[in-house]
Amino acid sequence: MKAAVVVAFDQPLEVIDREIPSPGPGQVLIRMETSGLCHTDIHAAHGDWPVQPAPPFIPGHEGVGIIEELGTGVQNRRIGERVAIPWLGYACGECRYCIDGRETLCEQQLNSGYSIDGAFAEYAVASARFVVPVPDEVTSLDAAPLSCAGVTTYKALKTAKILPSERVAVFGIGGLGHLAVQYARIMGGAVVAVDIDKDKLDIALELGAEQVVNAAVVDPVAAIQALGGVDVALVLAASPMVFEQAFASLKRGGRLVCVALPAEQMMSISIFETVLKGISIIGSIVGTRQDVAEVFALHAAGKTKVIAETRPLADVNLAMKEVLAGHIPARLVFTF
Ligand SMILES: NC(=O)c1ccc[n+]([C@@H]2O[C@H](COP(=O)([O-])OP(=O)(O)OC[C@H]3O[C@@H](n4cnc5c(N)ncnc54)[C@H](O)[C@@H]3O)[C@@H](O)[C@H]2O)c1
Ligand SMILES: [Zn+2]
Ligand SMILES: [Zn+2]
Repeated sequence: MKAAVVVAFDQPLEVIDREIPSPGPGQVLIRMETSGLCHTDIHAAHGDWPVQPAPPFIPGHEGVGIIEELGTGVQNRRIGERVAIPWLGYACGECRYCIDGRETLCEQQLNSGYSIDGAFAEYAVASARFVVPVPDEVTSLDAAPLSCAGVTTYKALKTAKILPSERVAVFGIGGLGHLAVQYARIMGGAVVAVDIDKDKLDIALELGAEQVVNAAVVDPVAAIQALGGVDVALVLAASPMVFEQAFASLKRGGRLVCVALPAEQMMSISIFETVLKGISIIGSIVGTRQDVAEVFALHAAGKTKVIAETRPLADVNLAMKEVLAGHIPARLVFTF
């Protein structure tokens, strides 16, 4: 099979031939149809974060494909079924977090395309318990971005408990942001979209944002405070400065929801302002299998729209450059 492999953090990925893996006990073999390129894959390939993956590894955690083989003991899936491989590749199922509905916090978890090989390949093996079935009404092209960009922003906004009277700022209208705008609207919020690229802001307006702020042209904090501030600020752009701007855009009682994962770890937030204004700072990591299923169900019901362009896997390095340059509409998806 063809696979895109990170061989070293300072080198381009290599697209090489590899043996098709065999599913171990409890695993399935999936023939990939699509595989989304999340900004996290770029952080992974560059070794940006404090906990690094170990090269050589195959990135990709927005994989969608058909089950071709079942490992021993697999009872819950069948050959021919279409499933998604999300970031949460495995969790123990026994710990406090797994049993109280927070499996994404499991300390034993394995992450697709990071601690285990992911979906930038023609085939992948994955835990039968952690792949998520894709409904017939959702195309494989749409299902790919939904399985990380979708579920992550859906869960982040769910955690923020938006009320229908509230205003929500989404900072960064990329792969995650274009879906965040739609979930915030579905939950009843009025959306202010912030980006540094005008085309991204046009997409946000198309998808239902009420206001847009071009942070390359105006100070987003002043622009949002001129509107009266926001109740929730969701940060999807990988820069500490943007977290600080988002914090400063909040009303009293507001919630800062941290999702982007910049290489630079520290943000500077005033303790005095946090306390006096009663602000909550929330971290949110992807979503559970149930959250993925809910995101698929919303899409199957026609309530969301995925904006994506396809690329061949052979162009993986160019595709990463395009995402970093910030000019692609929403998401790039590899097709096989
Ligand atoms: N917490 C999680 O579970 C989780 C899940 C997936 C991705 N992520 C992280 O979220 C981040 C975003 O991922 P993505 O795939 O949507 O990336 P992306 O590159 O598709 O989107 C980022 C967007 O931010 C915009 N941007 C850049 N600088 C900005 C600025 N100063 N102000 C406003 N907007 C700005 C870009 O123009 C782009 O539209 C990454 O850091 C990724 O690792 C986190
Ligand atoms: Zn992702
Ligand atoms: Zn667990």
